Amino acid sequence: MHMKRRWVASVALVAAVGLVLAACGGGNGGKKASGSAASKVEVFSWWTGGGEAKGLEAMIGDFKKNNPNIQFINAAVAGGSGTNAKAVLASRLQANQPPDSFQGHAGAELLDYIKAGQLEPVDFLYDQLKLRDVFPQQLIDQITFEGHVYSVPVNIHRANVLWFSPSVLKEAGIAKPPATIAEFITDLKQVKAKTSKIPLSLGAQWTADHLLDAVMLGDLGVDGWNALWKQGADWKSPQVTKALQDYNTILQYTNAEAASTDWQLAAKDVVDGKAAFNIMGDWAAGYFKELGKSPKVDYDWAASPGTDGVYQWLSDSFTLPKGAPHRDAAVAWLTEAASKQGQDLFNPQKGSIPARKDADTALYKDYLAWALQQWQTDKLAGSMWHGVTANNAWHTNIDSSVGLFLKNKNVANFQKSLVDAATSGLAQ
Ligand code: GAL
Repeated sequence: MHMKRRWVASVALVAAVGLVLAACGGGNGGKKASGSAASKVEVFSWWTGGGEAKGLEAMIGDFKKNNPNIQFINAAVAGGSGTNAKAVLASRLQANQPPDSFQGHAGAELLDYIKAGQLEPVDFLYDQLKLRDVFPQQLIDQITFEGHVYSVPVNIHRANVLWFSPSVLKEAGIAKPPATIAEFITDLKQVKAKTSKIPLSLGAQWTADHLLDAVMLGDLGVDGWNALWKQGADWKSPQVTKALQDYNTILQYTNAEAASTDWQLAAKDVVDGKAAFNIMGDWAAGYFKELGKSPKVDYDWAASPGTDGVYQWLSDSFTLPKGAPHRDAAVAWLTEAASKQGQDLFNPQKGSIPARKDADTALYKDYLAWALQQWQTDKLAGSMWHGVTANNAWHTNIDSSVGLFLKNKNVANFQKSLVDAATSGLAQ
């Protein structure tokens, strides 16, 4: 009798283990592992460190509370702006092994995934959660294709921010941050002449791409910039030449060891009083907060030179890949990312403003209070580097052009390769 009971018990155990394994998605058995005991969700992003992971963790914490039966697998791949992550993601999608949800930028980048047939529309979720009422229409437009919505935006980041060190500016005798690209160049010269500090800190190559966005927007203005991504764009114009020349001049004031560091260390130079300026998206605000630095004391900010009144925006959104192994759990994650609670936990840490219009504004302080207010009044310009204006192929071509330019500093060749990149980018 005793023996028999034990045997029964172990059979039950084997069966339970089998169920767990099946639900864990080892093969097709895991496909429909909805909120059941052994479900899990694999979420792919590039938020691994400095300010970025903290925001994600805050949202994961809330997700776990709301979904105690779903195991969260954080599949983040390190590397600012997703340079490494996007390559890993592309090969997984190619091999038909999508994560349950992945981070994608609203705009041209998302459109690539949609057109490649890699995403499921999420209209059902928009209907169920009434999301059309809570996100700004212009943002919904950026994630809609042929009448269907394809992702859930979790935030809005601002790319065109000039971070500066009040103490280094004081030392250099600069009374206020530069309002134009010309003033910026004058200030960079002055920092170099009067201090031993880095005039403009820079990191890995992608931060030079990011800087190019800011300098071109600053020189061309919002209308000139926005026109570059539409049919009829004129990349050969003397205005573009001038912007590229200015970019070349500005690069002369950056630090030499830049290429080996990611954005965090470059931004840190400012709050540590080692550099006067850094141009970086507002994820830097999340990082500075994590470092315990004081706004207006250890660092201050302004619109990047020449861009006052313009919000160069980008938005992180989460997707539902076709063939997601744990589709129901992925929908639970998207529900979290769409929620007011999730967004209000994530964004104050991440250094972004919420995509939702009804977030609790009291939670957004210092830099973020400024950003929220600017978002209400500024004109909009899309970020190239962060997926809004150029699709992945065009983006890669611009990056290659920048890479060559950083070596040879030949403005004429640089412009020519940007013209070529635009010609093929606009033809797609
Ligand atoms: C952007 C992304 C931000 C932030 C940044 C630096 O592309 O949208 O959320 O992570 O890269 O890694």
